[in-house]
Amino acid sequence: MGKDVIIACDFSSAEETFRFLDRFTERKPFVKIGMELFYAEGPEIVREIKKRGHRIFLDLKLHDIPNTVKKAMAVLSALDADIVNLHASGTVPMMEAALEGLTRPDGTRPLLLAVTQLTSTDQRHLEEDLLIQRPMADVVLHYAENARKAGLDGVVCSPLEAETVHAACGKDFLTVTPGIRFADGDLGDQKRVMTPAAAKEAGSDYIVVGRPVTASPDPVAAYMRCIREFTD
Ligand code: C5P
Repeated sequence: MGKDVIIACDFSSAEETFRFLDRFTERKPFVKIGMELFYAEGPEIVREIKKRGHRIFLDLKLHDIPNTVKKAMAVLSALDADIVNLHASGTVPMMEAALEGLTRPDGTRPLLLAVTQLTSTDQRHLEEDLLIQRPMADVVLHYAENARKAGLDGVVCSPLEAETVHAACGKDFLTVTPGIRFADGDLGDQKRVMTPAAAKEAGSDYIVVGRPVTASPDPVAAYMRCIREFTD
């Protein structure tokens, strides 16, 4: 899979999601389905969106004991998502078990990404809540290296981290990066952001874009602008 723009479909119902996706008649975007939509609508939402011709990043961020994650991944694999993910903090054995569960009898599987540290976690949380006395950048890189060791395909990270992750884990190790804003757009609650063009320069493989597209008066035009800036 090459460079692409993934739209974060952070909607709470299938109806709202389909109303949004129906606007895209020429090019079917790669979509991200998160916990809100999945828990509201169940696995059927994945099958439905897939049937409409979209590729799917199922962003459920699994984190449990290895055996439970392995079995859950086998269920997600049968849904035919293109990308799924988990928390790298679940440790290397959990990530290895996840890969096993995800692999279908014919050897194929969705891509598997690790979340390193959530962008809502800051240095103070790391030290005071988690008792991790190391700089955030070291922790992110260490978790990315663990994911690579376990055989995963890449990480979800800030575009600001894409370059160092590639330097440490190789250029084929995918960096999928949210926190994207247009140069003339609203930041919303995102703090450390990049434009699609800057994310391309930084080496992101996929950008995840939510509100700059979903809240735009013309979502198709906003999506096409992302495509132009990121892939041209
Ligand atoms: O609307 P916006 O472009 O900020 O949406 C970004 C999407 O990426 C949301 O679905 C958000 O949950 C997700 N995300 C993020 N930062 C992370 C991981 C995921 O913004 N570190």
